Amino acid sequence: MSLYKQRRELLNQQLDRNSVVIIVGNTQKTRSKNIKYHFRADNDLFYFSGFAEPDAIAVLRPGHEHPFVLFNRGKDEAAEINFGQRAGQQGAIQQFHADLAFDVLSVEQNLPQLLEHRTKVYYLDEQGLYQHRIFDWINQQRQTTPFDKIKYHRQLLPFAPIVHNMRVLKSPEEIAKIKLAVKASTHAHRAVMRQLKPGLNEGQLEATFLREIANHGSKEVCYPSIVAGGNNACCLHYEDNNCSLADGDLLLIDAGGEYQHYCSDITRTMPINGKFSVEQTQLYQLVLNAIDEAIAQLKPGLCWSQIYTTCMQVLAQGLIDLGILTGSFDEVWQSESYKQFTIHKTGHFLGLDVHDVGSYHDNQGQWLKLQENMVFTIEPGIYIPQHCLTVEEKWRGIGLRVEDDILITKTGYENLSAAVPRTISEIESLMSSAEE
Ligand code: GLY
Ligand code: MN
Ligand code: MN
Repeated sequence: MSLYKQRRELLNQQLDRNSVVIIVGNTQKTRSKNIKYHFRADNDLFYFSGFAEPDAIAVLRPGHEHPFVLFNRGKDEAAEINFGQRAGQQGAIQQFHADLAFDVLSVEQNLPQLLEHRTKVYYLDEQGLYQHRIFDWINQQRQTTPFDKIKYHRQLLPFAPIVHNMRVLKSPEEIAKIKLAVKASTHAHRAVMRQLKPGLNEGQLEATFLREIANHGSKEVCYPSIVAGGNNACCLHYEDNNCSLADGDLLLIDAGGEYQHYCSDITRTMPINGKFSVEQTQLYQLVLNAIDEAIAQLKPGLCWSQIYTTCMQVLAQGLIDLGILTGSFDEVWQSESYKQFTIHKTGHFLGLDVHDVGSYHDNQGQWLKLQENMVFTIEPGIYIPQHCLTVEEKWRGIGLRVEDDILITKTGYENLSAAVPRTISEIESLMSSAEE
């Protein structure tokens, strides 16, 4: 049985026989006039079908003799010469194992009848493409049926909580793909470290990252790379990547390749001239201590929020020790004054999405406990922008983050990105070697 069929079967076990699931995939977005952005399939539709073309709708009917119906683009010779092959309806059935397939242009005629006898309609339409039609579809039978026939009163229910819960725990196949994404990114981060020197432009390093992931089977990044020299690193999602890199500054690179739809997300910070200054060493070591202390606690059963708490405790105490924050630990902790320099949360699930889906709370509203086969990032940082006049000048213009990708195992964890140099000596030593 294909992986996708297995997932559909698993889903069927969770749904009543009178349910139907409608997942509307993505359409291509316009970049400019008739130029489109490179297409990426909707992850939930892909998760249950493996289908990655634009303009698809999957209809899943537990217990039906035709449980998997796919609406997709029809074959079109001219369009295919211009923009590439389409599976068409035959391909939907033969390659993607749909039980029925219809041209997506016929959705109005063919979708409502698929809801027959189904009174619970689970709907997911991330881009809102058919949200103006869904009520007509679910009410159509009632509106067109004579008064002496059974009329179906249907419930519209959100599908996202069900599928996103399923996606939190990764299968061996998914873990293998995430590992390959991380591996490609590992090569690329190492290549950036080796190339880095004063005077280069941030964009040149971005290009190096892209080339190296491509050399390792990953053709694209799963989010715009952040290649930020000096003060630019204090902008969390900086992506201009067009400044010259100055001797004496740090470079923060947050970049991750994607492998067969699965993501990696790794950040390293390093001295542009190859040697951490005294202040850079102190702050870098503090962030490294924070992530290492959080990682050391990881195992099934640990509370998700404990990762953030541990990171913040280490950072708060360290910022006091360095004289960047004033007051006792209790005062700093109570007032949360450390947050002005730590500014973001310390991680997220990782999978088909870089900020992968799934709730961080259980059904009782309590923080989630870690479980085997969860994959997530840990990413503490410290940011002291140039304009921050409340701290000594020597600390300003520093943005610093370390981000690793973690798999929870039966008894502990695996740091998937550990092969990207992360200690000061590892980084300085790789930077000083022309060749690995
Ligand atoms: N690169 C985005 C993030 O770290 O969450
Ligand atoms: Mn991240
Ligand atoms: Mn990141």
